[in-house]
Amino acid sequence: MCDFSSFLAPFVGSHDRILVVMSSTLSSIGTCSYPTLWLEDGEEHKSLQQVEKIWSFLLGEQATRHSLLVNVGGGTITDLGGFAAATYKRGISYLNIPTTLLAMVDAAWGGKTGFDYGQIKNCIGAFHAPVDTIIDTRWLSSLPAKERLSGYAEMLKHGLIADKSYWEQLLRYDLHQEPNNSQMQQLIERSIGIKQLIVSQDPNETGLRQVLNFGHTIGHALELSTLHSKLSTLDHGYAVLYGMIAEAYISHVQCGLDKNVITQLAHLMNEYYGKPQCNCKQVSQLIDKMRQDKKNTNANDIRFTLLKAIGQPVWGQVVPESLIQESLDYLFSI
Ligand code: GLY
Repeated sequence: MCDFSSFLAPFVGSHDRILVVMSSTLSSIGTCSYPTLWLEDGEEHKSLQQVEKIWSFLLGEQATRHSLLVNVGGGTITDLGGFAAATYKRGISYLNIPTTLLAMVDAAWGGKTGFDYGQIKNCIGAFHAPVDTIIDTRWLSSLPAKERLSGYAEMLKHGLIADKSYWEQLLRYDLHQEPNNSQMQQLIERSIGIKQLIVSQDPNETGLRQVLNFGHTIGHALELSTLHSKLSTLDHGYAVLYGMIAEAYISHVQCGLDKNVITQLAHLMNEYYGKPQCNCKQVSQLIDKMRQDKKNTNANDIRFTLLKAIGQPVWGQVVPESLIQESLDYLFSI
């Protein structure tokens, strides 16, 4: 059992109530002494109905503007809890305790909150930063391999957009070992450092923060296509890994990125992630989904973050549909 009540002690004096929203996947391993709402985790549960459950919980527990909401779980829980906190009584404080690798290195940082709506990922949301994010890597020992790989993809992204030596360190890391080890802790710290540096310069994503979306334009479209189909749901990190392969291909053609990066990503896919499921009919649907991306400023343009080289991202790049199609053909052919 992981009792995280002690982490909350420093926050008790400055808040009238401490209320917890916790992933139901943790019911057998997590515990605390504060009122708790158990909530389903996973992208298919990132909905308005789940936000309503949190609002009702806060109301039922008589939370005030001086209360603290604590979100314990993966990225779905930190996104939903963060949004409920951003909107309840026009905004209360919240704290994140991420329990998945993906949430530790990405979702729990930077104040992006929200839920999926009208088949658009994160369509409704708010920027509302947590008062703190507490990392405890002991949670990682209970993670299924699939969830570790999902988080690892976001770490690879951090290497590609910001730090060539970190990227190389990640490529050398043996993903088969038990994840709660000192090498992984150092890698997590580096990822968080990269994300925090970028977010601190552009918290509301007016420009620079878009570099964090490398792999996500195509990745989100792939993820959404499985969310609303009979295919088994694609985990966010898997979608980002596939998206990075296609977007590295586009980066090579449009910005001169070294071809080796595509090969290295394709190797990781074949070694760990497996091939994406898709058929040709879906490719045009994927491109339609990309048109709805929040980064687009004109309904006809599809904008990407691309790489000129490792550590040299460029954002707001318009890419012709024919090249997007070519990159997807490449992705589905390897
Ligand atoms: N996950 C991308 C961002 O926080 O901007």
